[in-house]
Amino acid sequence: MKAVITAIAHNVPDNVVDNHWFEDKIDTNDEWIRTRTGIVERHFASEGGVTDILVPAVERALAQRGITAMDLDLIILCTVTPDRIFPSSAAILQRKIGALNAWGFDLAGACSGFLYGLVTGAKMVESGSVKRVLVCGGDKMSAILNMEDRTTAVLFGDGGGCVILEAGESDDYGVVDSILRMDGNGEQFLYQKAGGSLNPPTIETVTNREHFVYQEGQTVFKSAVKGMADVSYELMERNKLTADDVAWLIPHQANLRIIDATAARMGLSKDKVMVNIDRYGNTTAGTIPICLSELYAQGKLNKGDNLVLASFGAGYTWGAVLVRWSLEKKQ
Ligand code: UT7
Repeated sequence: MKAVITAIAHNVPDNVVDNHWFEDKIDTNDEWIRTRTGIVERHFASEGGVTDILVPAVERALAQRGITAMDLDLIILCTVTPDRIFPSSAAILQRKIGALNAWGFDLAGACSGFLYGLVTGAKMVESGSVKRVLVCGGDKMSAILNMEDRTTAVLFGDGGGCVILEAGESDDYGVVDSILRMDGNGEQFLYQKAGGSLNPPTIETVTNREHFVYQEGQTVFKSAVKGMADVSYELMERNKLTADDVAWLIPHQANLRIIDATAARMGLSKDKVMVNIDRYGNTTAGTIPICLSELYAQGKLNKGDNLVLASFGAGYTWGAVLVRWSLEKKQ
């Protein structure tokens, strides 16, 4: 018995910020951002935390499935921008949606958070210990962006999505296979310098702007190109899939050039690659569920489609997951 996705939805804040918005604030321009990343605009929340971004997505997913929040057994909330360090944002979300029968936890897998959460949730269903799992992936990156740093401010956005996982009726569909990796040597190239137990907040950490994203872009770029492409290719090989057998690559949206390199390694044409980085930027744990939700809503997913979900991010964390789509095409 495999775990299948029985509902999928996403949400982004209303406030849209295009590349030109940055031009009078930092030394950057629309042309650089478009050509180096593929980003045209992103959404920045005007208020609220990551759970406020996720609540509308969860409500849509529950309505789609025709169940209430009380029917959920477990909430896995994947994020690096929790509402608070504690309690978990899973607990805060549980209260907001009224899922009082569910336990849950936060999962800090950065850009690979949703894939880590999807696989963990699927295994929980497959073990028989829970019936319905809500897996959310989302981030409010604007909360940890230094708007004076042109090397990071333009890259990220706010948004998220969720899936409901349940036991499938046959082994033909669902979360079929996964390869998940981590290399803690990547910490130094992409991290938040202060705010945790190692460097608690002080006047100095705030003055030195150490509570924001720090990234050595080129170093991360090189590792991402190799990591995401290698693992996606390995997943195809292991499951004896040719490019023809793959309906969609649904990659993490950090940089269009990383996405193109992964697709090329898999031998996939561009029409099989989901890209929405132009509209949302990098929403960290949000990118993959937003992509999946948009594809489904657009009626582009057919029952039985092989989907390769792939990611690379801070940690380093990376991975690829093979999902055989279980819902009928949305009309
Ligand atoms: O999702 C988590 C994982 N993260 C990633 O996968 C991100 C991986 N990295 C990247 O996507 C890319 O490295 C970036 C988009 C961050 C940067 O692109 P790049 O092609 O690697 O540029 P670069 O860092 O080599 O910088 C090239 C030049 C530099 O100027 P000089 O030294 O050549 O004069 C930068 O200072 O571009 C400059 N630059 C900018 N110029 C205008 C950096 N940021 C900007 C900017 N606007 N926003």
